[in-house]
Amino acid sequence: MSKTFAEFFAGIGLMRMGLEKAGWQAAFANDIDEDKWRMYRDHFGETTDFVLGDVHQLDPSRVPSVALATASFPCNDLSLAGARKGLAGRQSSAFWGFIEVLHKLGARGPPLVLLDNVTGFLISHDGSDFREALTALNRLGYAVGAFIIDAVRFVPQSR
Ligand SMILES: C[S@@+](CC[C@H](N)C(=O)[O-])C[C@H]1O[C@@H](n2cnc3c(N)ncnc32)[C@H](O)[C@@H]1O
Repeated sequence: MSKTFAEFFAGIGLMRMGLEKAGWQAAFANDIDEDKWRMYRDHFGETTDFVLGDVHQLDPSRVPSVALATASFPCNDLSLAGARKGLAGRQSSAFWGFIEVLHKLGARGPPLVLLDNVTGFLISHDGSDFREALTALNRLGYAVGAFIIDAVRFVPQSR
């Protein structure tokens, strides 16, 4: 299981690109978008079990035992640019589908979880969305920390 990860909300695999550089190995990926799945597959080949479909419908038996689960869940309802419906919004509520998968994995769940989102997550609904998300992870047994990274440290764009 050492340095293996399951990539939720995988999109075109940017999380994977970063983690592979740090010696991690992708064992599983999930995303709902067929176009992104094609790009992921064209770039990485058939090297990973990629389940194309809604995380809310994901059969947890498809998820292998891994050291880390990453979740770059949709930011549309959390971003300062959006309507700010938060984790109850149509797209960002996919976070709860991810939590349900972790719950169903039970003792087989990954010891590490990495969420990735916009800073608007911190202040969505005056912070209550962030608090709810952390509490959900706490209930599953995870201790949680948060940090902000400005992309400008790596690319010519501050976000
Ligand atoms: C912020 S993007 C993640 C981008 C990703 N890190 C990448 O490298 O492309 C959120 C992703 O969640 C996916 N998504 C949205 N709703 C979903 C759902 N219900 N189940 C699974 N994936 C979903 C979208 O297709 C999108 O690729």
